Amino acid sequence: MKNILVTGGAGFIGSNFVKYMLNEHSEYRIVNIDALTYAGNLENLADVKEGTNYRFVKCDIRDSATVEKIFAEENIDTVVNFAAESHVDRSIVDPQAFLTTNVLGTQVLLDAAKKFWKLNPDDKYDRSFREGVKYLQVSTDEVYGALGKTGMFTETTPLSPNSPYSSSKASADLFVRAYHETFGLPVNITRCSNNYGPYQFPEKLIPLMLNNCIKGKPLPVYGDGLQIRDWLHVSDHCKGIYTVLEKGRVGEVYNIGGNNEKANIEIVKLIIKAAGASEELITYVKDRPGHDRRYAIDNTKITTELGWAPEYTFEQGIAETVKWYLDNQEWTEHIISGDYANYYDKMYKNA
Ligand code: NAD
Ligand code: DAU
Repeated sequence: MKNILVTGGAGFIGSNFVKYMLNEHSEYRIVNIDALTYAGNLENLADVKEGTNYRFVKCDIRDSATVEKIFAEENIDTVVNFAAESHVDRSIVDPQAFLTTNVLGTQVLLDAAKKFWKLNPDDKYDRSFREGVKYLQVSTDEVYGALGKTGMFTETTPLSPNSPYSSSKASADLFVRAYHETFGLPVNITRCSNNYGPYQFPEKLIPLMLNNCIKGKPLPVYGDGLQIRDWLHVSDHCKGIYTVLEKGRVGEVYNIGGNNEKANIEIVKLIIKAAGASEELITYVKDRPGHDRRYAIDNTKITTELGWAPEYTFEQGIAETVKWYLDNQEWTEHIISGDYANYYDKMYKNA
């Protein structure tokens, strides 16, 4: 059995990944560490039981002593690092948490992996590591910056991040690269496009718009609403990460994307239709500062080299997602009845 440390496994993608692995790949024992920030929610894992295959530990990835204790106790041989501050708008208001969690936290995990996996830890020239270990960094297409009307991001597109969030993710990617180049740590980096699906925190476009439709509240579209994102169902992202874990060539970066570009306003109109709301709710508000105009992922490398391809069509994925949020309004209510209400008022007050 392999022992995989999943970080940030109480968040949106991490919790989907934990469940995917437990259901589909029982050869892995999952140790999930999460600091349970505002975005971490154990309700996302309500149906996951502690036992032979699964353990949860509340732990901040910046806390090197606890991280090392877990590596030792659990004989960790694989890391998938989801833990991050993930919301661009919050990074514009308070960049520091992004620097400490996304960059310093990543470096703490890399150091633990190096310490526990290196065969001769006291020899700085020795690059040999235990057989079968791997560190996988879950990154984002945002590290490449913004595209104009044409072109796509490939794995060799220069990094050109524009927000404090994407800058912190790009910095983390560079540390991961450096630990591979300098020490020989076996790593992969995945860079994925916008995810959607169940358990996404309602600060993000799709669950936010859907919840506002349900409540009959204005739908705050930034700027002209013509910014473009490439949308991928979260379960396809999880399968992509697993594929890279199993088959990715060590030291390589793999883009993961859905070939599914949509303007924000198209998404908002789709949600209005699915929720049976009115387009009169659409309210154009001040644009996000430094707002990236367009993202598009060229996923040729992962599809041709590793045989991964998205399974969901957007039509099927969005229909299931809307149904999930409509059927699970209590889940959203538990979030929005807490601190999130203050965040929402503050974030959209002057827009
Ligand atoms: P999320 O905000 O829903 O979840 C983040 C999780 O990390 C939460 O459970 C939170 O409690 C935890 N966390 C935050 N700081 C921590 C710390 N210091 N120590 C331990 N745990 C901490 O985020 P998400 O949307 O699930 O994104 C997960 C990862 O995927 C992130 O690294 C993000 O950059 C990347 N990503 C996200 C998307 C997307 O569309 N959501 C796309 C590409 C890449
Ligand atoms: O591209 C991958 C990234 O996708 C991930 O790395 C990030 O963690 C994830 O949050 C997401 O970033 P975005 O900024 O693209 O996602 P968000 O849901 O915040 O916004 C999607 C688009 O919708 C973006 O162009 C901004 C716009 N938007 C968003 C909100 C919250 C609005 O117009 N109004 C809104 O209220």
